[in-house]
Amino acid sequence: MTKICCIGAGYVGGPTMAMIAKKCPDVQVTVVDINAKRIAAWQSDTLPIYEPGLDEVVKEARGRNLFFSTDVDQGIRDADIVFVSVNTPTKTFGEGAGCASDLQYWELCARRIKEVSTTDKIIVEKSTLPVRTAEAMDRVLHSGQKSVHFEVLSNPEFLAEGTAVADLENPDRVLIGGHETPSGQKALKTLVDIYATWIPRDRILTANVWSAELSKLTANAFLAQRVSSINAISALCEATEADVAEISRAIGTDSRIGSKFLKASIGFGGSCFKKDILNLVYLCESYGLQAPADYWRQVVLMNEYQELRFVKTMLRNMFNTIAGKRVAVFGFAFKADTGDTRESPAIRVCRALADDHAKVVVTDPKAIENAKIEMPDLLDRIEFEKDPYKAAAGAHAIALLTEWKEYKTLDYQRIFDSMAKPAFIFDGRNMLDHKALFEIGFEVYSIGKGLRTHLK
Ligand code: NAD
Ligand code: UGA
Repeated sequence: MTKICCIGAGYVGGPTMAMIAKKCPDVQVTVVDINAKRIAAWQSDTLPIYEPGLDEVVKEARGRNLFFSTDVDQGIRDADIVFVSVNTPTKTFGEGAGCASDLQYWELCARRIKEVSTTDKIIVEKSTLPVRTAEAMDRVLHSGQKSVHFEVLSNPEFLAEGTAVADLENPDRVLIGGHETPSGQKALKTLVDIYATWIPRDRILTANVWSAELSKLTANAFLAQRVSSINAISALCEATEADVAEISRAIGTDSRIGSKFLKASIGFGGSCFKKDILNLVYLCESYGLQAPADYWRQVVLMNEYQELRFVKTMLRNMFNTIAGKRVAVFGFAFKADTGDTRESPAIRVCRALADDHAKVVVTDPKAIENAKIEMPDLLDRIEFEKDPYKAAAGAHAIALLTEWKEYKTLDYQRIFDSMAKPAFIFDGRNMLDHKALFEIGFEVYSIGKGLRTHLK
């Protein structure tokens, strides 16, 4: 029986391994982590992350061929294949601070693998890493006297949160990079065969290791760039009475452009887009490529502009003062269908509103606990309320920041009646029926469409 160990039981390690275990009952999968609380949650009925459909996948395989453990060394020792799926955040200190990847967790894993292994293993980079990390991995693993052989593959993950289960079950592609040596190609085939259990062969792409590593950073950079591009146009729309949704539709029907990832918003969030682009910027700079570095940095700067533009628009329309005014923030997660709040634009928006002395009340169906963790210094100034109706009662404004579908079907007449007047709604996701809201009596602002006002 093939034995897999995955180091890192996070948003990627947990779901990807659960899917492999579900689809390959003859492979034993053990997910290990140093975070005992996380492992206990994976073993319980309340999983540590919210992801539609994940409970069922985990329940089917857990205890059969899917296991969660804090015994990292044992997991590594027993495995034929070790996935490394630990966090690779942006460095906050020293050389490259604010840009480069912090590789300390990844290197600790490499050293642990080398230390405890007694048999040959395939090591799979699942984390998103700078191009040529596999070279460093090889050097750490093969340093010293040991006779054990490690073959390093790159198998970046492309799942998006909120749709992780569907993405893993039916991915556009799986990408596996291996060295162009006989042992590299043999390891590559082993991993291809596992994925081929449920994924058509023509969707399993193989490449050299460096291309696989760099493809992941490039994919995220291109996706984020599309969001920044449409957001740049949204600002121009508001100045010219063009409608950004109509523009997205018009350009998205061009098959060369495609319709996805053209929704204007308050900005992209999530743990990866910003970190991966900054990593790309750092890589370009370290190879002396300043113009490509500047080009990609602009995608992040545009995103920051869009977040702050939203707050400034709120302030300007609310008569340049929000001090003492209750503002209901609808949605704190960085996107719908996840409780994840990492790098959510809502963090910056809430902070800016609180700085201007607004009485902020945050509501979200899944992310309230994480929201509290994001803003520990503001807990005495920000209120958290599960019920959106209670959050909006007495508010001067609603700022809709996450596109939860339940916000579409709220009784906005009831909400309007409970609010201070004039009642503002700022739709940061362009998802509500603006005409209907305006007819109820709201002052309605929406990204890339501007303000509909009753006030003259
Ligand atoms: P995460 O923070 O949710 O999980 C990482 C886990 O690794 C944590 O539970 C942590 O305790 C554990 N860990 C760290 N060091 C360890 C060690 N030495 N031994 C054992 N466990 C250790 O991170 P994530 O969101 O799952 O992301 C992991 C990687 O995957 C990152 O490189 C990220 O860029 C990439 N990625 C993330 C997503 C996503 O949607 N979140 C998608 C694709 C790729
Ligand atoms: C993204 C990529 O889509 C995944 O392929 C990748 O694996 C992952 O990053 C990663 O490496 O972590 P994720 O961040 O989970 O996935 O979610 P996305 O759906 O990409 O959304 C990212 C952000 O962009 C969200 O804040 C979302 O609201 C925003 N967005 C997305 C827009 O504002 N407009 C759009 O049209 C699309």
